[in-house]
Amino acid sequence: MKIVAVLGSPKLNGNSAILARRFLDAAQRLGAETQSFTLNELAYQGCQACRACKKTSEVCVLKDDLSGVLNAIQGADVIVFASPVYFGDIAGQMKLLIDRTYSFLTPNFHSDPKTSRLASGKTCVLILTQGLAEAMFADVFSRYEWVMKLLGMETVHLIRACNVVKPGDVSAREDTLKQADALATRIMDENTAHKSSTRE
Ligand SMILES: Cc1cc2nc3c(=O)[nH]c(=O)nc-3n(C[C@H](O)[C@H](O)[C@H](O)COP(=O)(O)O)c2cc1C
Repeated sequence: MKIVAVLGSPKLNGNSAILARRFLDAAQRLGAETQSFTLNELAYQGCQACRACKKTSEVCVLKDDLSGVLNAIQGADVIVFASPVYFGDIAGQMKLLIDRTYSFLTPNFHSDPKTSRLASGKTCVLILTQGLAEAMFADVFSRYEWVMKLLGMETVHLIRACNVVKPGDVSAREDTLKQADALATRIMDENTAHKSSTRE
């Protein structure tokens, strides 16, 4: 099973990256093949709304460092999007990537039942970290869950850490770290069960 993680924080050892790494490590121990991209190290543009991906091309025609990320997402079974909450939303680095996934939508996604070009059955894991309390910004997950479903993701999971202010604060959150381990185990188990049922 291939897992691709996209890290949106500029902090390499920040809270969202720690949780993503914890999830990836647990999945890797169970046999997953993993790959990570740190968006802050890449040079890229946001969607230019040229709509070439709806008219003349099946893929985004912009050629920059996101081309490889979009390609890796297409080939993955599980995609992890890890981001801090910035001003009540995902970080800008991540938002530009999400806008570029417009190229995954079919030309007639507004009216067709099939909205996405991505292969079906993909799993998405959203990792969100924020400085303020749980009651704040719960809408971030529901908004991006909607985006991920439009992109054809079958299941969208959330790992969320609140009240984590300084990079590394989440390392003291044993419950959240264990949640990342448990989710990796569950997704790997489901994948194994799915493979054996399709073999029967
Ligand atoms: C520019 C900026 C904006 C932020 N906006 C919010 C916010 O709206 N709500 C919140 O709870 N925390 C906010 N924070 C705090 C971060 O979400 C928090 O520190 C998070 O754990 C950082 O994750 P990271 O370590 O993965 O970068 C903000 C931090 C920065 C630098």
